Amino acid sequence: MNNSRLPIGVFDSGMGGLTVLRSLKSVLPNESFIYLGDTARLPYGTKSPETVKQYALQMARVLVERQIKALVIACNTATTAALPHLQQLLPDIPVLGVVGPGADAVIAATSNQRIMVFATETTIASEVYQRIILEKLPNAVIHTQACSLLVALAEEGMQDNAIAHEVLRHYLDNFHQQDTLLLGCTHFPVFKPLLKKLLPADVRIVDSADATAKALHAKLSELNLLADVMDQGSATRYLVTDSAIRFQKVSAIFLGESISPSAIEVIDG
Ligand code: DGL
Repeated sequence: MNNSRLPIGVFDSGMGGLTVLRSLKSVLPNESFIYLGDTARLPYGTKSPETVKQYALQMARVLVERQIKALVIACNTATTAALPHLQQLLPDIPVLGVVGPGADAVIAATSNQRIMVFATETTIASEVYQRIILEKLPNAVIHTQACSLLVALAEEGMQDNAIAHEVLRHYLDNFHQQDTLLLGCTHFPVFKPLLKKLLPADVRIVDSADATAKALHAKLSELNLLADVMDQGSATRYLVTDSAIRFQKVSAIFLGESISPSAIEVIDG
């Protein structure tokens, strides 16, 4: 089989990566995808980098066994903990993370170089965003905020209620002169409508989804691995390590379309 016809593997700790899959499907409409959510072990964002790296390796192995032509780590925490390692381990396929594209997006969006980053505890502790952004914008002033509660709220489908409102207000406490908010966790884009209500109208809210999809498009094109328009991408398959019912119920908020229960398979992690 021509490798360009193989699916693209995408994984996250849970449903957050579906916000990336949504952009991937839109930018790469001829491609097939296998999405893996490690729902049994979510959250990743409060665990140590060593543990997250182990989980990421296991998730990558599951996808590689199913024959994929590229791997997208649709999770900032797992990208931070495991991207270079996975790239080394899988030299035959492109392996992309979401952190580089997210940093590029925020660099393109900011005018006053005052940036706020919302991410998980583990991503914030790694200082990965500061490192990448300051390399390109050495005068940038970057504030960071660990927002662990947002992951639980998003997975509960509570992205726009009174509790989410209060939690966001709490996390926005230090938001003052920034002109750009980077959502450095793939679970967070579901809060965009509420964030828009809470922030001044001229604040830009950016995430890594579109930038990651564009980066993957460029990589596949460079390697001559883009699926042909005639391939028409087969239906996306979804793998979870726990509770298909829960995943099916809440996933539409992240993906923007509902997933048929028959497309979801529960696997051992
Ligand atoms: N979606 C993941 C990220 O982008 C983290 C969620 C979690 O804590 O599991 O970092």
